[in-house]
Amino acid sequence: MKVQIDAERCQGHGRCYDLAPGLFGDDDEGYGQVLGDGLVPPGQEQTARLAVANCPERAIETL
Ligand code: F3S
Repeated sequence: MKVQIDAERCQGHGRCYDLAPGLFGDDDEGYGQVLGDGLVPPGQEQTARLAVANCPERAIETL
């Protein structure tokens, strides 16, 4: 599983990096960014889905 953030949708709500700090970080303006290449390590799939479900802008996609 892989995650990516649609930068055009992200409004910087920050729930992704609060809920899944191992998968997401923030840029200087508080917009979410995937860490590394966005590949979700084994065992973190549920955390990734939690972040997807909690983004108010539906900006996070899984591949
Ligand atoms: Fe952006 Fe959604 Fe995270 S709006 S900062 S991707 S919770």
